[in-house]
Amino acid sequence: MILVTGGAGFIGGNFVLDWLALCDEPVVNLDLLTYAGNLETLGSLANHPGHHFVQGDIGDAALVARLLAEHQPRAVINFAAESHVDRSITGPEAFIQTNVVGTFRLLESVRAYWSGLPAASQAAFRFLHVSTDEVYGSLEKTAPAFTENHRYEPNSPYSASKAASDHLVRAYHHTYGLPVLTTNCSNNYGPYHFPEKLIPLCIHNALAGKPLPIYGDGQQIRDWLYVKDHCSAIRRVLEAGRLGEVYNVGGWNEKANLDVVKTLCAILDEEQPRPDGQSYAEQISFVTDRLGHDRRYAIDASKLERELGWKPAETFETGIRKTVRWYLANQDWVAHITSGSYRDWTAQQYGDTLNA
Ligand code: NAD
Ligand code: TYD
Repeated sequence: MILVTGGAGFIGGNFVLDWLALCDEPVVNLDLLTYAGNLETLGSLANHPGHHFVQGDIGDAALVARLLAEHQPRAVINFAAESHVDRSITGPEAFIQTNVVGTFRLLESVRAYWSGLPAASQAAFRFLHVSTDEVYGSLEKTAPAFTENHRYEPNSPYSASKAASDHLVRAYHHTYGLPVLTTNCSNNYGPYHFPEKLIPLCIHNALAGKPLPIYGDGQQIRDWLYVKDHCSAIRRVLEAGRLGEVYNVGGWNEKANLDVVKTLCAILDEEQPRPDGQSYAEQISFVTDRLGHDRRYAIDASKLERELGWKPAETFETGIRKTVRWYLANQDWVAHITSGSYRDWTAQQYGDTLNA
């Protein structure tokens, strides 16, 4: 049994779906169901005996202690976080609360549980912390990609809160010997991505005939990885990562934002042409830049490739086409978010049984 936190979000949701499709090991899924948590993502698991969903906060020490004692997981994988940079600029408090205080409390709960395990279970136990490349700050245009040794230079409240959580995880290994692993991944894209982030937002707005907002000059560079490749990397690190180590995860796919959006438009032009025959690129609209906007991220994932033999299955070209097709085939999933009804769906499916 493994305990996943934040498993109703974008990456955690994909991880849980893939995990249960690939193996029989049950998952306890602890998620607070903030605006970003969506049980509709996990709809196909509603009657799955291996999926035990619990609505709750990683910072709720009593709840986490009870779940650990009851289910005796061999690993905890921490996806739970506030994850949107723009929200961290307008309201940083929640980021400190969940990403820093929440991770600290989770570490404390896990340490207490782990300390009481028999020696063999203690040795086999893993705490895997899912983090981001944004902790490394912004790169000059020609600078080499981030390695695991790059100094931490977080620039947004989001990345600063993730950096703080990474440091806590590191300290719990160094000080208490907690068997931790950390992954720092580049920007993900793929199915079940909340439509506040660039790629799902632009697909949604394109189809709705709305502007495609490009911050500043659109020349900011992100390194994109298909979400299922991130999930496979996490499984591999969990399986074979060296204790206390950090692994960068990325797909060597650096793209300027404007190019990403133009690619989306070109695929949509083929897959679902606009009724007026014009390109979706006509809807591109340059808007005021994000405060403190990092110019470039790039991940050097060679440690993970070399030590653990991991490689992404998708190129950007194959992954982005799959993503567009998924959104075209699952427009209800997005519509339920934009209408707010995804929250009703949770109540309909689970009633008041979520904490059972
Ligand atoms: P997301 O915002 O889609 O999902 C976060 C999930 O965590 C939601 O289901 C939310 O309800 C839950 N949550 C929030 N606060 C909680 C709390 N206090 N207790 C329990 N659950 C809580 O985020 P995501 O994009 O899936 O990111 C998952 C993790 O991966 C995050 O830690 C993020 O920093 C990291 N990451 C994301 C990306 C990316 O491109 N999205 C890239 C690298 C790393
Ligand atoms: P985002 O998807 O918010 O991810 P992050 O900031 O965590 O990397 O943004 C990806 C890039 O796209 C980032 O450089 C900001 C930019 N962006 C836009 O240009 N327009 C938008 O509407 C959004 C949401 C993001």
